[in-house]
Amino acid sequence: MEVWRRETVSSTLLLVLTCTILFLMSGVSATRFIVGANMGWTSNVNYTEWAKGKHFYLGDWLFFVYDRNQMNVLEVNKTNYETCNENHPIHNWTTGAGRDVVPLNVTKTYYFISGKGFCYGGMKVAVHVEKLPPPPASLPEKSKNGSPSNYGSQIVLPAVFAIVALFWDNFIGFWY
Ligand SMILES: *[C@@H]1O[C@H](CO)[C@@H](O)[C@H](O)[C@H]1NC(C)=O
Ligand SMILES: *[C@@H]1O[C@H](CO)[C@@H](O)[C@H](O)[C@H]1NC(C)=O
Ligand SMILES: *[C@@H]1O[C@H](CO)[C@@H](O)[C@H](O)[C@H]1NC(C)=O
Ligand SMILES: *[C@@H]1O[C@H](CO)[C@@H](O)[C@H](O)[C@H]1NC(C)=O
Repeated sequence: MEVWRRETVSSTLLLVLTCTILFLMSGVSATRFIVGANMGWTSNVNYTEWAKGKHFYLGDWLFFVYDRNQMNVLEVNKTNYETCNENHPIHNWTTGAGRDVVPLNVTKTYYFISGKGFCYGGMKVAVHVEKLPPPPASLPEKSKNGSPSNYGSQIVLPAVFAIVALFWDNFIGFWY
C-alpha cells in the first residue's frame, strides 16, 4: 500500500515536471492581454497609453471586455483606424457576449476600433505584434541591456530545480 502511494505521487510529479520542462523548451509563454487592463474596452481610456511599453508577441491574445449593448470590436486597416471608418472592417471580432478574444497570430500591426461612434472618442488601439525573441542560448546568462524578454525562464527554471531538489527522494524511490 505504502509503495503504491509512493509511486503514484512520484509519477504524477514526474508528469508535471516533464510538462513544465517541455513547455519551457518550446519557448512558448503566451500572454493574454486584457485590453485597457482593469478599465476594459470603453470610452475615456487612452489605449495608446495602455499599449505603450508593452511587447506583443506572436501567439499572444487580446481580450476585449466591454458593454455588449454599446460597443463592439472591429479590426480595420490603418487608414480606417485613423479616420474611424467602421464601414470596411477587415474582421468583425464581435461575438455578442462583450467578451471577445483575438489571437495575435500574424506579425503585423493590428488596428482595432469600436464602431457605433465610440472610435471618435478614442476607443481605438493599435498593437504591433513581433516575432518571439529567440530562447536563451545557455543557462548562466547575463541579461543584455536589461531586456526583460527572458524574465520568465529566469524565474521558472530555478523554481523547477528547487522542486526537483525538494522531491529528489521520491524520484530515487520511483526509479529504484
Ligand atoms: C494618448 O496618449 C498618447 C501617448 O502618450 C498621446 O500622444 C495622445 O495625444 C493621447 N491621446 C489623447 C486623445 O489624449
Ligand atoms: C483601407 O481600406 C480602404 C477601403 O476601405 C482603402 O481605401 C484604403 O486604401 C486602405 N488603406 C490601407 C492602408 O490599406
Ligand atoms: C459584427 O458581428 C456581430 C455578431 O455576429 C453582429 O451582430 C454585428 O452586426 C457585426 N458588426 C459589423 C459592423 O459587421
Ligand atoms: C489567424 O487567426 C484567424 C482567426 O482565428 C484565422 O482566420 C487566420 O487564418 C489565422 N492566420 C494564421 C496565419 O494562422
